[in-house]
Amino acid sequence: MGEALQHIRGRLLWLTALPDDEAHPGVHYLQDGVLSVQGEHIHAVQSYAQYIAQGGQDADLHDVRPGLILPGFIDSHIHYPQMDIIGSFGTQLLDWLDNYAFPAELAYADREFAQAQAQQFMRRLLEHGTTTALTFTTVHAHSTDALFEAAQAVNARMIAGKVLMNRNAPDGLMDAGTGNDENRALLERWHGQGRLAYAITPRFAITCTPEQLTAAGQLLQDYPGVYSHSHIAEHPDEVAYTLQLFPEAEDYADVYDRFGLLNDHSVFAHGIHLTEQELTRFHKAGASVAFCPTSNLFLGSGLLNLPRLQQFGVGFSVGSDVGGGTGFSLLNTLGEGYKVNQLNGDNWHPLQALYAITRGAAETLHLTDKIGSLNAGLEADFVVLEAPRGSVLAQRLDAESSLTGELFAYMFLDGERAVKETWVAGKRQYQREAA
Ligand code: GUN
Ligand code: ZN
Repeated sequence: MGEALQHIRGRLLWLTALPDDEAHPGVHYLQDGVLSVQGEHIHAVQSYAQYIAQGGQDADLHDVRPGLILPGFIDSHIHYPQMDIIGSFGTQLLDWLDNYAFPAELAYADREFAQAQAQQFMRRLLEHGTTTALTFTTVHAHSTDALFEAAQAVNARMIAGKVLMNRNAPDGLMDAGTGNDENRALLERWHGQGRLAYAITPRFAITCTPEQLTAAGQLLQDYPGVYSHSHIAEHPDEVAYTLQLFPEAEDYADVYDRFGLLNDHSVFAHGIHLTEQELTRFHKAGASVAFCPTSNLFLGSGLLNLPRLQQFGVGFSVGSDVGGGTGFSLLNTLGEGYKVNQLNGDNWHPLQALYAITRGAAETLHLTDKIGSLNAGLEADFVVLEAPRGSVLAQRLDAESSLTGELFAYMFLDGERAVKETWVAGKRQYQREAA
């Protein structure tokens, strides 16, 4: 017997190609639509009129109007153990790691603490509309177990892996050897379990010996479909230190590439300071960049030039990079991304920005057959946006008639509070408390 259908009525918007305006064929908008869900999947997407014409009943509808239903957001770079240090004062990347990130991650030596934090992290993602995230854990194997267990409890599609680091970090936050046995065991335990996938996660070249990177690259080669996830070219001091540690490498991208860590399942956070030669290498490998504007501004790392990335045919998505990033909201993150583009002399269309946290991210992760849009057959991950009553956003939207203008407003006004409901694999897992 099939599972019961659920029908959600609202305004529906999703993208299936990178649009340059609302009239683009990749933009799908139903002013009065019904999203029907069966089990974990989208069963049908149609207008309300079609729903009624086919015998649908008003009584069966969950009506979220005037809410705007979008695909669940995809955060392509975030650190779950850094929730508690968001907005820590006064430093740039390498000092920030020493002063804030490493001490915070040391606390995850405690398994129960890690488990409680992982559960809290999942709640935070969902209240901000994020249904999939590519997540850093810590060096402790149980921190990765904790994250996957918390994701499994809400049936969320999550990608994560144990952080590899075995030098240039505090005692207690380093693998004894290469960490390879633990890494492989975690990969085998979690990759492909339900909606979970594994990412080989060397923190960055500075904290990994060549032996550790060799083992990581080998593992990636042994398990096709597994992701690789790291940081690259975020801050000038980091780039200089990396090249000092790997004098034989042509450039930073070459460091990862020579260990087999650069392929079409690789996501590298930041990439601000990549050279043309490195971007060419990224393009050839099919590797993508996670644009993390709130973090890049907060840590003073620099302004990623998105048009330059596009010119080189390098795919990109967007990451909150909590806790270098200043919040979980990807809407807000897009707003900061828009400002970065302004400073680079470019406009970022809100529909293109939305693409980067939905369908575009799914493309870089090879998941367009599962998530990122609202087509029948896809997994039913979606969010409902609605301005909180009495908010500046509500006032702004009362005066806005275009879809583009509405999306743009979510990126700047109350984006942190704009999510009313979040559905994961056909179940509502978050509902905003009534004001
Ligand atoms: N590079 C290496 N580790 C980190 C981290 O935790 N955050 C950021 N923003 N960059 C990094
Ligand atoms: Zn990061």
